[in-house]
Amino acid sequence: MRPVFPTGRIFAAATLLRPVLTEDAGHIKTWLNNPDVMRFWGGLSETVSDEQSRTWVAGYVSAGNQKACLVIEAGGVPVGFILLSCETGDANYRHKVEVDICIGDPSRWNSGLGTDALTALLRWIFTSTDVVRVFLQPRSVNARAVHVYEKVGFKKEGTVRKGEMIDGVLYDCVMMGALRDEWLAEFGR
Ligand SMILES: CC(C)(COP(=O)(O)OP(=O)(O)OC[C@H]1O[C@@H](n2cnc3c(N)ncnc32)[C@H](O)[C@@H]1OP(=O)(O)O)[C@@H](O)C(=O)NCCC(=O)NCCS
Repeated sequence: MRPVFPTGRIFAAATLLRPVLTEDAGHIKTWLNNPDVMRFWGGLSETVSDEQSRTWVAGYVSAGNQKACLVIEAGGVPVGFILLSCETGDANYRHKVEVDICIGDPSRWNSGLGTDALTALLRWIFTSTDVVRVFLQPRSVNARAVHVYEKVGFKKEGTVRKGEMIDGVLYDCVMMGALRDEWLAEFGR
């Protein structure tokens, strides 16, 4: 079994992905306290203190092989992150990875960064690991996220009814998956 998560840098056209570092805690705190971001992420009732952001980052820095956080840089500046999780300890489930992405600076939305970063990540996973399925579960109402995920090769697989509670409201989510053979046939050139 090859490693599931990158330990080095992934170079894309407009972005670079790298494992989160302890010194990224300040960026994480800024992004996760921005109401424009949190409306689409954990909800407006979530706020993050200095200590919580340090703990959050430390949890990923020392996570081992169950989860990972990759910081997205554009032009050398951190602009967001991608979270990955995999049940690497269970042979029945380690073929699949769940992904989530947040461009933490809203002024950089709709500039192609999410598309660029996710495409590079899928290419890395499907050519450098034994993972055959990458999936994510955006809220149905997050039309931009669903659009971007379809654009980079995820397919809608069904509705996860009441899949996420944000600010006390239950939302349906869309199960979306990309399979290695399908993805490489369409995007692997
Ligand atoms: C979702 C997110 C990762 C997308 O990254 P991004 O860099 O903004 O996306 P891109 O610039 O690569 O692409 C945006 C696409 O969405 C389209 N779009 C923008 N607003 C839209 C909307 N309301 N409905 C549908 N499509 C929309 C754009 O036209 C563009 O598509 P196109 O290239 O086909 O024209 C980013 O906006 C983000 O982090 N948002 C906040 C947190 C979040 O929603 N995370 C996802 C949780 S599931």
